[in-house]
Amino acid sequence: MKRVTFDDVGDLERIKREIMLSIIYPLKRPDLYELYKKGIKSSILLYGPPGCGKTLLARATAGEVRAKFYNIKTADLLSKWYGETDKNIQFVFEEARKNAPSILFFDEIDSIGSPKNGEHHERRILNAFLTELDGFEDRGDIMILAATNSPWNIDPALMRPGRFDKLLFVPPPDFKARIEIFKIHLRGRPVASDVDLEELAKLTEGYSGADIREICNDAATFPLEEALQGKPLREICMEDLIKAIKGRRPSLSYWLRLAKLKIVERKMEEFFPELFEYFKELVAEEKISGYA
Ligand SMILES: Nc1ncnc2c1ncn2[C@@H]1O[C@H](COP(=O)(O)OP(=O)(O)OP(=O)(O)O)[C@@H](O)[C@H]1O
Ligand SMILES: [Mg+2]
Repeated sequence: MKRVTFDDVGDLERIKREIMLSIIYPLKRPDLYELYKKGIKSSILLYGPPGCGKTLLARATAGEVRAKFYNIKTADLLSKWYGETDKNIQFVFEEARKNAPSILFFDEIDSIGSPKNGEHHERRILNAFLTELDGFEDRGDIMILAATNSPWNIDPALMRPGRFDKLLFVPPPDFKARIEIFKIHLRGRPVASDVDLEELAKLTEGYSGADIREICNDAATFPLEEALQGKPLREICMEDLIKAIKGRRPSLSYWLRLAKLKIVERKMEEFFPELFEYFKELVAEEKISGYA
């Protein structure tokens, strides 16, 4: 897989800074952390709507630092065989310890111990995971990242202090972020001078980063197909991009509604203050009504 760095992630500056301070610098400059006796507490949980850069950020973190990176799709740890899952969990943590410095990334962490599965088996799996997590206190050389797009399915036990105590909201891209994301996905492609990034960003309110990537792909298809039919080569122009935008619906409003509903229903507001701030902003800007 191609090496990804923070340059490939549009905007999200605040989250990049947090990851730098909690994960990247402690691995790069352990001497400074030791000098200032800054404790290293490096477990970050990223949450937010699909397609807005959580997995991308984790891969970019790996690309920024020389450490062993374990990209774990959490559901792959789960086995229907009694006891197998515990062993899988122990195994990945053990590997990370052996090969430290390392970063463990649990993608789609909500599949572990979600409260919707109240069964005994699920409880055990969660406990096995918590035991490993608790065993990491004060180690400076193993960092833990996790991500989810259904934070309401996360067991609150995972969010107690000392576990994932840094919960970061990865928001939908705003106007400025969408410009950056268009730039990233048009990079290296032949682009006509009439392409107006600000206009594109205006037209894509409510679209995710993944939507924008697809729009750029779709737009590239038009001149490509023409060329394949023997027509003269030409650059991707504004009209191609506008056509591509019209061909895709913005994907984010569904998630925003669902998130509000589920988090309120499960009384988990206290865990996700950044998300509720975001809802408030949306309403204040009259972009979307009825979220807060
Ligand atoms: N901020 C961004 N900058 C550049 N590209 C982005 C950004 N956000 C998303 N993308 C594009 O969308 C793709 C999907 O994003 P990603 O896999 O990070 O989403 P996610 O937040 O993990 O979603 P999910 O919750 O569905 O797992 C990325 O591989 C990238 O091409
Ligand atoms: Mg993802």
